[in-house]
Amino acid sequence: MLYYLHMQEHPLFLAPLAGYTDKAFRQIAHSFGADGSVTEMVSAEGLARDSAKTKALLDRYPGEENLIVQIFAPSEDPVARCLDTLLAFNPSMIDINCGCPVPKVVKTGAGSALMKDPAAAARMVRTIKERTDIPVSVKFRLGWDSSSINYIAFADAVYEAGASVLTLHARTRAQGYAGQADREAFRQLASHMEGSGAFLFASGDIFTPEDAGAVIDGCGMDGVMFARGAIGNPFIFRMAKEYMASGSYALPSAEEKVMTALSHLRLAIDAYGEAVACREMRKQLMAYIKGIEGASRAKASLTQACTEEECRSALLALIGK
Ligand SMILES: Cc1cc2nc3c(=O)[nH]c(=O)nc-3n(C[C@H](O)[C@H](O)[C@H](O)COP(=O)(O)O)c2cc1C
Repeated sequence: MLYYLHMQEHPLFLAPLAGYTDKAFRQIAHSFGADGSVTEMVSAEGLARDSAKTKALLDRYPGEENLIVQIFAPSEDPVARCLDTLLAFNPSMIDINCGCPVPKVVKTGAGSALMKDPAAAARMVRTIKERTDIPVSVKFRLGWDSSSINYIAFADAVYEAGASVLTLHARTRAQGYAGQADREAFRQLASHMEGSGAFLFASGDIFTPEDAGAVIDGCGMDGVMFARGAIGNPFIFRMAKEYMASGSYALPSAEEKVMTALSHLRLAIDAYGEAVACREMRKQLMAYIKGIEGASRAKASLTQACTEEECRSALLALIGK
């Protein structure tokens, strides 16, 4: 997978998004040009305990390639114990979450709590590298808060331990998902790692093709991860590729948005059954139709919709079908 990343012009990946980046979303993203995806974060402890619910998060769509599996853990112990189960899924790469700001995760010492303990993150990388040749990546933040910015030292620690791919979400833990991601930090990281052979993904406030161009051409990052910018908008991958090739891009039509939302819903129904999929997909269906005339009426119907047919008629009404 590392070779693949380095051979791509500038890979565009679907970022890990808990509650979103399941196999249905990843398949849709791939159909619009995503070069690969990251699973939502998966508990190393859950895998170590062979939890069926945790393992279900690693399901792939038929033929899925370039899948980075992201795990979270507070220390190397659960990482070591989860590897048999994890490796059986044959991930293209294993990513360690060092960025999740959610208190439930942080208070265990996992996610962005690891920004305070780069040595622990490095031990987790080493634990995986001792067992397998599969590349390891780490997704991390600028630091815990604005008074403890340490992403460069953190990157050095995990790179020296064997991580060959680094994804910087250019916000602190204290910022959560608010405030501007710091593009200057991408520039600093890219210049610091230049010549090291590490592959660098940018994450944070990448919502448009122009944003992707700016962090690649302007900051020297190797690839980008689209996160919130891809929710209800898998077209971003096609648009960004068009933009990078030609300097312009076409927006999706209302019809394309609606038909893609319906294809996404169908894949989710195939995966989870109609009742669960219709409920779980509401927020994403609403994201697809944002900005289309009549969207607020359709949203009201979607809130009540429990079947594929009800979702279909709410969505198709938007395009007069
Ligand atoms: C709903 C949601 C769920 C997320 N889940 C994860 C996750 O499981 N693992 C992870 O590393 N980052 C996760 N993130 C962070 C994103 O991958 C990304 O780094 C962040 O949203 C910044 O990118 P953006 O500003 O372009 O959205 C999540 C973000 C959101 C909004």
